[in-house]
Amino acid sequence: MEMKGYTIVEHEYDVVIVGAGGAGLRATLGMAAAGLSTACITKVFPTRSHTVAAQGGMSAALGNMGEDSWKWHMYDTVKGSDWLGDQDAIEYMCREAAPAVIELEHYGVPFSRTASGKIYQRPFGGMTTHYGEGVAQRTCAAADRTGHAILHTLYQQSLKHKAEFFVEYFATDLIMEEGVCKGVMAWDLGTGLLHCFKAHQVILATGGSGRVFFSATSAHTCTGDGSAMVLRAGLPLQDMEFVQFHPTGVYGAGVLITEGVRGEGGYLTNSEGERFMERYAPNAKDLASRDVVSRAMTVEINAGRGVGEKKDHLFLNLMHLGSEIIKERLPGIADSARIFAGVDVTKDPIPVLPTVHYNMGGIPTNYHGEVVTLADDNPDTVVAGLMAIGEAACVSVHGANRLGSNSLLDIIVFGRAAALRAAEILTPNTPHQALNPDSFKRVLSRFDQLRHASGTESTARIRDDMQRTMQQYAAVFRTGESLQIGVDAMQKIFKRFDAIGLTDRGMQWNTDLLETLELDNLLAQAQTIITGALHREESRGGHAREDFPDRDDQRWMKHTLAWLDTVSGAVRFDSRPVHLYTLTDDCDVIPPKKRVY
Ligand code: FUM
Repeated sequence: MEMKGYTIVEHEYDVVIVGAGGAGLRATLGMAAAGLSTACITKVFPTRSHTVAAQGGMSAALGNMGEDSWKWHMYDTVKGSDWLGDQDAIEYMCREAAPAVIELEHYGVPFSRTASGKIYQRPFGGMTTHYGEGVAQRTCAAADRTGHAILHTLYQQSLKHKAEFFVEYFATDLIMEEGVCKGVMAWDLGTGLLHCFKAHQVILATGGSGRVFFSATSAHTCTGDGSAMVLRAGLPLQDMEFVQFHPTGVYGAGVLITEGVRGEGGYLTNSEGERFMERYAPNAKDLASRDVVSRAMTVEINAGRGVGEKKDHLFLNLMHLGSEIIKERLPGIADSARIFAGVDVTKDPIPVLPTVHYNMGGIPTNYHGEVVTLADDNPDTVVAGLMAIGEAACVSVHGANRLGSNSLLDIIVFGRAAALRAAEILTPNTPHQALNPDSFKRVLSRFDQLRHASGTESTARIRDDMQRTMQQYAAVFRTGESLQIGVDAMQKIFKRFDAIGLTDRGMQWNTDLLETLELDNLLAQAQTIITGALHREESRGGHAREDFPDRDDQRWMKHTLAWLDTVSGAVRFDSRPVHLYTLTDDCDVIPPKKRVY
């Protein structure tokens, strides 16, 4: 098809998955195996997706290293979420965890082993036995390269089932007709051609948007492209104010040092050599949940007990573990510490700092992966033709704070759930109707406008200003006053994008245009994160307001929904109720109570 001087290549599939991380590949594999014609569009080669960087492991109550139960896992996840998680979805995830790991094992994931040959499991923060009494060893690991192992295995399995991959294709926008998703437009970076993918279901598996911030463990590709497409389609994002800071990013570089280090016995110290977590969380200590550890670290630094010349970071010690354990269970972080901090971990501690790691918020979905919105007073209205999974989605199993190793679990369980749902509701090779040309004129106009933008602002400068503003004002601790400064600053930065100017007008490998499209996506999400943080007047999970220090279940036990006016930058809020009910009668609703560590 020819339009506005562009040749658009047309494709028809039953399902199109956007993104080839763990969630995208698990869905791709499942949908292809179910006989649906399946395309996976990805802006990087599948095995380079950000899941490759997941280190510590995937939680599942296998009970290989001591007693365990999915019900304890569910309890920990609800409590870890600070009671913002949807309990039906959490039940589904924790129940499905053990079969999901066994399935991965059968697909070929090379998990580490115990002496008796079982899958090795390590302790992770917030994972307990007997509803908070003991420490659970629940995180299934492939050394400290679990994401790498899973990603390679799923890619191989997807190829085996004849899924088709469109690699180095950048999805620009959803094609929507009267509220129904009909497909997606993508730009082939290599050839420069535009492609229109018609699909009966589009599944967004585009990951998080860590790169909204200056220091993040996320890859530079984590620009939340799917979530921004959803905002441009006039749909809301959910709970965007909840951003997780991982306690141990390498100081200066932001590179992840897995929580598995503390699971294996590593601990944090301050400038006085004190194991300060004993004061903040007498029971869980260094394995308290991430929000608790990140806040404690920030308090220590602000109290002048940081280490280094500027006293602005802390030490993670693992020297005492010995080189044998480090070589066998933590080889990857030994490399990262050497490369990014110049540290030999068998001799010296690693300098670390809480670093942006994960978006608890995202595209609202039910536990089948179907995107939902608030329409006609129904907060669970399904958006036909559209699914979201993985970090892009907000199911919501993590609520206000995700437990470590529940992310690899989430991507596998809900990638599979989306495939099961698609197989249930679609008939393979159902013919497609013709699209209304108007539905992609809007999409094409935006692309064309940005390609030819000739203003005075540079992409790199706006991105840098956004990242520094978000880092400073949407930080571990927040106040109304500092957030208001941040909101005002972000509004100005958002509007500066109107005057963006590109120098490369080409279509092939135009990284100037690619980074500008990504920046547009990041700005949209920055607006929902920082205005959402100002809007929510309480402290819960990863959202710590010094001016509202308590969790306020009366006013705020609800999911935030945020719609963005993509022209003005204004954000409109509403809410959805938290699902305080379970899926089956096998388990009880876990009532809100104060968290004690
Ligand atoms: O610390 C880690 O290995 C990260 C795991 C996670 O975020 O789930």
